[in-house]
Amino acid sequence: MSRPIEALTTPRLERLDNMAIDPEFETSRDVVEQHEGHDVWGPVEEPETLGIHGTHVAVDFDICIADGACLEDCPVDVFEWVDTPDHPESEIKADPTHEDQCIDCMLCVDVCPVDAIDVDPGRENRL
Ligand code: F3S
Ligand code: F3S
Ligand code: ZN
Repeated sequence: MSRPIEALTTPRLERLDNMAIDPEFETSRDVVEQHEGHDVWGPVEEPETLGIHGTHVAVDFDICIADGACLEDCPVDVFEWVDTPDHPESEIKADPTHEDQCIDCMLCVDVCPVDAIDVDPGRENRL
């Protein structure tokens, strides 16, 4: 009975420290829907599980904490905020609405504090 608080908090800390977007999501996930002209890679079970948005520029919505550095730093404004009410990590996410404009500068990948973004021009137009 002496460790209930630790038992509750440790899994979340481990998640923030260790989890990053899976760069192999094309093989480990399936496209389950479209959003703003881009693919959404499941599983999706709203509001808690939202999947990965985008293919060339991919954002794992279940990891994004709405830091905002990607929106500020992208030189060609690939990202727009989208509302995600009741998601456990944050109630807005950086959506790669204009992934077709990406020039592969990789700034967003570098600045995201939770490694929620993966960019790979090799994935472009593969579907
Ligand atoms: Fe912008 Fe990231 Fe591409 S910062 S240009 S979306 S690599
Ligand atoms: Fe989210 Fe990372 Fe951008 S936390 S808002 S994807 S910098
Ligand atoms: Zn989206």
